[in-house]
Amino acid sequence: MSKYWSELIRWLAPYVPGEQPKDRKYVKLNTNENPYPPSPAVLEVIRKHTGQDLRLYPDPNGDILKTAISDYFQVGKDNVFVGNGSDEVLAFAFLAFFKQAKPLLYPDITYSFFPVYSNFFGIEAATVPLNSDFQIDLADYPTDNGGIIFPNPNAPTGRLLHLEPIEALLQRNNASVVLVDEAYIDFGGASCIPLINQYPNLLVTQTLSKSRSLAGLRIGYAIGPAELIEGLERAKNCFNSYTLDRLALVAGTAAMYDRDYFENTCRAIMATREWVVRELEQLDFEVVPSAANFIFIRHRNCQAEELFSELRQRGVLVRYFKLPRIDNYLRVTIGTDGEMQELIRQLQVILSVH
Ligand SMILES: Cc1ncc(COP(=O)(O)O)c(C=O)c1O
Repeated sequence: MSKYWSELIRWLAPYVPGEQPKDRKYVKLNTNENPYPPSPAVLEVIRKHTGQDLRLYPDPNGDILKTAISDYFQVGKDNVFVGNGSDEVLAFAFLAFFKQAKPLLYPDITYSFFPVYSNFFGIEAATVPLNSDFQIDLADYPTDNGGIIFPNPNAPTGRLLHLEPIEALLQRNNASVVLVDEAYIDFGGASCIPLINQYPNLLVTQTLSKSRSLAGLRIGYAIGPAELIEGLERAKNCFNSYTLDRLALVAGTAAMYDRDYFENTCRAIMATREWVVRELEQLDFEVVPSAANFIFIRHRNCQAEELFSELRQRGVLVRYFKLPRIDNYLRVTIGTDGEMQELIRQLQVILSVH
């Protein structure tokens, strides 16, 4: 605490990202990164662009990346916004759409950046509880709101909503923006993007951090009706003209065009998830059904916090949230088959002496 800090900074509770430890090598299953490298086409284009041109500013509009994303999803270029990770895209959306007289609504258990941004931007927010199966029930969301945001699949539970309830929400909730954060949609869900032409208040965000193995480059995007995209552009252009650097723009573009690599790595992660779930159930874990690149698990006899520290000591990092309703759960990212075998091996040892 410093006397020079503003009131706002003094009282904020910043987001705490998962550890990126440097003390030793871990099997790192704590931040939902992709265990596979980026597409070879991405690495090649980065090598090609690390030259002279780095002295020049990047294109403030990110045109090549917008074109690649609009080609991929078959939407107009004016339906695409790009940003420095979807966290930044979300931040602009909070500013552009959710600073309203009525409260923003999101689930009680969800991505922990939502309350952080609400506080940071002075946005009034209210939570709506997940049901007892950790499912979002959109019927519980009143229409008297200043916006609705939820991840699909939700984090950290991994539970997926199908399009029908989302469409039902959009039909009755047309006075505020509904933002569906699809950071994990490529691991088994159906995207809402095809609905953007029917609903002027639907905004969808996605990221290249998870399914395209590019967390290190910070690339995210939003897809929605042109008027919402223009709102995001206005927010961004009041903050930073160059949110994506030159390497991110060309690399993100190459990643969007390498559809085969993307589909193969997503398939591999989903296949690994299926067998890991079976193995964990054999070890007496309850596993919340997941359509994401992570699973949310609870052991029938052993406390999550204890498992978390035991695993850590044995070189396996997972994520533990000491929060109401979920303080006996662990969130485990799906790694390679080898990494997950190591997780299972260590759990067997820990549980055998428990
Ligand atoms: C639900 C959800 N949304 C958005 C993000 C942000 O991803 P990025 O800023 O890397 O695009 C994450 C990252 O963990 C997430 O879990």
